[in-house]
Amino acid sequence: MSTAVATPSSHNPLGDMDEWDEFLEGRYKEGKTETEFRQYDAEANPGVAEFYRLNHLHQTHEYVLGKEKEYFGLTRGEKSIWEAAEFLNTLVDDSDPDTDLTQMEHLLQTSEAMRANNEPRWMVATGFVHDLGKCLCLYGEPQWGVVGDTFPTGCAYSDQVVFPEYFKANPDFNNPVFQTKYGIYEPNCGLDKVKMSFGHDGYIYEVMKNHLPMEALYMLRYHSFYAWHRHGAYDHLCNEQDRAMLPSVLRFNPYDLYSKGNTKPNLAELKPYYDDLFAEFFPSKLAW
Ligand SMILES: [Fe+2]
Ligand SMILES: [Fe+2]
Repeated sequence: MSTAVATPSSHNPLGDMDEWDEFLEGRYKEGKTETEFRQYDAEANPGVAEFYRLNHLHQTHEYVLGKEKEYFGLTRGEKSIWEAAEFLNTLVDDSDPDTDLTQMEHLLQTSEAMRANNEPRWMVATGFVHDLGKCLCLYGEPQWGVVGDTFPTGCAYSDQVVFPEYFKANPDFNNPVFQTKYGIYEPNCGLDKVKMSFGHDGYIYEVMKNHLPMEALYMLRYHSFYAWHRHGAYDHLCNEQDRAMLPSVLRFNPYDLYSKGNTKPNLAELKPYYDDLFAEFFPSKLAW
């Protein structure tokens, strides 16, 4: 199997995509003051800051429409859940292999933490698949187009999105139609109508949308929409369904952020449980 090695470059400033997850974990560490929160962002993480500079610069509304057209038709072949996870695992970073988790291990730690907490089976399945959309990197998408906080395009940016100052360089910033509060949207139109910045959340939602309950689909689709689920921004675009589903997104978030550092999951031991779980929710092959 071929191996993709992620090396920091001017286009991909993160050593590996997990650097973003580690940044998130630090950002939302409990008991932080607002000042500490801000400092953590800019000074301690130049690679992450550069990553967000590129993300906020390039994720225009037009870019999103183009990428959705490219990927949301799911024309990249059929794979089982295990095949998709093994494919994602070929994304290898060049940091310390003894301390870093593989992509599959992060998925298993997330789902195993849910299982240990007696969460329902559909949620354990959601935990396992939640980052499978990161395979976008293996299709050649840059880091800033795969991970990072997501945000609505086509309307004014909230200052609750991390590094909001970088939006000034986005071409949409100078488009008067996009820079009103509602932009191209109707008040309370519902998030389903909102074109979110492109990334692994939206893509995995498209793959999974016929197979999991609504709560799960919200967890997948909006797990990186921190401005909404952690900071309460963009409520003016939400409808009643979005508000009713917000607690589910919040219920998912700690498992994603804080399940790392537990013991490495033993795949061979866990495989029979997951074989049954996947058979319960998914067809043997899904379109990607
Ligand atoms: Fe994610
Ligand atoms: Fe994750």
